[in-house]
Amino acid sequence: MPPATPPPQTYRVKSFGCQMNVYDGDRMAELLAEQGLSPAAEGADADLVVLNTCHIREKAAEKVYSDIGRLKRDDGSSPLIAVAGCVAQAEGEEIMARAPAVRMVVGPQAYHRLPEMLSQASAGKRVTNTDMPAETKFDALPKRRRSGASAFLTVQEGCDKFCTYCVVPYTRGAEISRPWQALIDEAERLVEAGAREITLLGQNVNAWSGKDAKGRAAGLDGLIRDLAKLPDLQRIRYMTSHPNDMTEGLIAAHGEVEKLMPFLHLPVQAGSDRVLKAMNRSHTAESYLRLMDKVRAVRPDIALSGDFIVGFPGETEAEFAETLALVDSLAYAQAFSFKYSPRPGTPAATMDGQIAAEVMDDRLQRLQDALNRDQLAFNEATVGKNCRVLVERRGKFAGQVLGKTPWLQSAIVEADVAIGTMLDVEITAGGPKSLTAVERIGVSA
Ligand code: SAH
Ligand code: SF4
Ligand code: F3S
Repeated sequence: MPPATPPPQTYRVKSFGCQMNVYDGDRMAELLAEQGLSPAAEGADADLVVLNTCHIREKAAEKVYSDIGRLKRDDGSSPLIAVAGCVAQAEGEEIMARAPAVRMVVGPQAYHRLPEMLSQASAGKRVTNTDMPAETKFDALPKRRRSGASAFLTVQEGCDKFCTYCVVPYTRGAEISRPWQALIDEAERLVEAGAREITLLGQNVNAWSGKDAKGRAAGLDGLIRDLAKLPDLQRIRYMTSHPNDMTEGLIAAHGEVEKLMPFLHLPVQAGSDRVLKAMNRSHTAESYLRLMDKVRAVRPDIALSGDFIVGFPGETEAEFAETLALVDSLAYAQAFSFKYSPRPGTPAATMDGQIAAEVMDDRLQRLQDALNRDQLAFNEATVGKNCRVLVERRGKFAGQVLGKTPWLQSAIVEADVAIGTMLDVEITAGGPKSLTAVERIGVSA
């Protein structure tokens, strides 16, 4: 058993992976702050380090071990190390066995237990909690008190879809929706703390369902419509969505709710129906394209985004060409693309026809060329437009701020305004990943 250590005074939380992990990392930081710990200063050593890990693709676990190794100090000692997130859930026992420096392993549904785990760990114990308790961690977490201009709010967790390549249903558990009132309360708190934009999060956020304040059945669109009534909340976004849960109501909301931003991240994964079926995606390329048409009909300027996997087992060149054709027909504003990575315990990992690394590299390159071309074209097409950016950060140079357009593009603006300002700008230049804009003096409220 490792020796007892004085209770930690400072902490650092490092989050990897999706936005839900970022949300969880923030909530863990709030919990630790409530225990009297303070965040370690930039570049300084922390007494407690939480590695909030992601297991979605290759080398996730190796990365955790090398991160743990790097935390070793010159005198051979280590901070108190906690491994959290999806690698903790999937490989907690192995981590405890292989990495003696780790004192705590905590899964994504159990991190509200961190304070008690911390006192056990300080007493010299090594503790693991990867339970998926029936009671929700959200009720046990402190109330939100801090927020940037743009905040995340997890409304739904887990996944019941079991795409054959994906670990999420195993690491995050079954789909649950948080109750309506808890979400309205958390949103109000975030807005009071300075949030002007809230992004509703879930592994399948559009599968959110619940009962509204009057006890009527509601979907994500109902929740969005109610949140839009918060006067100081200017913008609402949501991600990530599944095509099967894209309801008529949610599509209609894109045409009707002014605060719902014109951006939709809807992963398709592949353009071939045979591959989609083998992935257990339960939508076809055609049904996906029809959905996108419907959304564009109600919100013609909507920026579309998606996720792609190249080199799924058995994918032929002709099937990959169907993915390229789908990209060509949609012209995404931005998208994420990945090489297929076999994940232990998923059905696709043992399928025949695993694709050679060089073939995957080549397909990924060709797909990314097409996506980059479309992203640049989208950015260039916004040049000359007037719009509002939400100022989120100071820029690299004095007198510069960074903000987001309604279409989720990053914009650099020469302006001396506070974080959280909604700034009226004209877009003057569009590059591959960001835009330049100028303030429209005298227009901003
Ligand atoms: N719930 C979302 C996405 C969750 S994971 C959805 O259903 O679309 C984020 C993305 O990681 C996925 O959309 C997929 O493109 C990618 N991904 C998931 N598992 C993967 C794997 N085994 N190999 C490569 N990419 C993967
Ligand atoms: Fe993974 Fe599929 Fe669930 Fe998305 S829908 S989290 S890709 S299993
Ligand atoms: Fe990664 Fe878990 Fe998110 S595997 S993508 S951190 S749900």
